[in-house]
Amino acid sequence: MPPSSDAPVLAAGVDELAAEVAEGLTRPAKRLPSKYLYDALGSQLFEAICELPWYRITRGERALLARERATITAPLGNRASVIELGGGNGEKLAILIEALVERGARVETHLVDISPTALDLSARTLGGYPRVSIRCHAAAYLEGLGEAVREVDGDHPCLALFLGSNIGNLGPAESNRFLRAIRSRLRRGDMLLLGADLVKSEEDLILAYDDPLGVTAAFNANLLVRLNRELDADFDLAEFDYRAVWNAGASRVETYLVSRSEQTVCLPRAGCCIRLAAGEAIWTESSHKYERAEIADLGERAGFARREQWVEPESKFALTLFDVR
Ligand code: AVJ
Repeated sequence: MPPSSDAPVLAAGVDELAAEVAEGLTRPAKRLPSKYLYDALGSQLFEAICELPWYRITRGERALLARERATITAPLGNRASVIELGGGNGEKLAILIEALVERGARVETHLVDISPTALDLSARTLGGYPRVSIRCHAAAYLEGLGEAVREVDGDHPCLALFLGSNIGNLGPAESNRFLRAIRSRLRRGDMLLLGADLVKSEEDLILAYDDPLGVTAAFNANLLVRLNRELDADFDLAEFDYRAVWNAGASRVETYLVSRSEQTVCLPRAGCCIRLAAGEAIWTESSHKYERAEIADLGERAGFARREQWVEPESKFALTLFDVR
């Protein structure tokens, strides 16, 4: 089922892409915003990453959701509103929806994502369930969450989902600000379920982000393909290597596209040309990894009350459920 045709289309336009790319590439330490990894092909490559044996976040989280679905959905009662921020393909949300549908609840789901492809995939996954309505919000997380909460009628509680360790893309200060902003858009009695990946061995982390099949490398290189297409840029893919690094001090995996030679790249629609030295890196993404207690603290500092936390031991992945009091 496609997203409802009246879904507001607020996806970032080419102007915003151009401005943010120009800003990032003209810094002394070049970087590109990771949210732009998810064009149509990028979203499909991310789907493939989730199937890789070395990338265990998705499988670990799915196992936890399946195990704890009754406990997680119990407080929602018979009229449930579930809002997912950045849901990918909707598979994880479906695990919770099934638990609700099986016990006869009526469910209103809100999908928030800047990627129309992701919304499409999710809506299709969730289209088949009885007594489940689907609203798509093609918007940034907070904007979409605000819209969704305004549409939730009456006084039944909402469950907001921020899964997949998407929080890991944000730095410590940013994630605090972001969780506060989520908190301020929810109402008393609502809940937040936060999925976050835990610190594990460097070897496992590097394998997860620099996989032997090269899918993650392709996922990153596709960002240059996107800039070539949308900004008329002239990145030569053969002149870039992909690299993943574990930054233990900052507790994050950092990924880079590294220039193989001294080169100039022009991005006409971003109004700039940039020079890259041989070996110079463009930072594409950070994936923070957490200790269990840190995740609970993160929520509590943003004004949530910790309700429960579950850990999947093989993947070392945590789900934490918070209350809005
Ligand atoms: C979707 C941001 C959670 O950081 O693990 C996967 C993205 N990047 N492999 C992550 C990603 C490379 C993913 N998040």
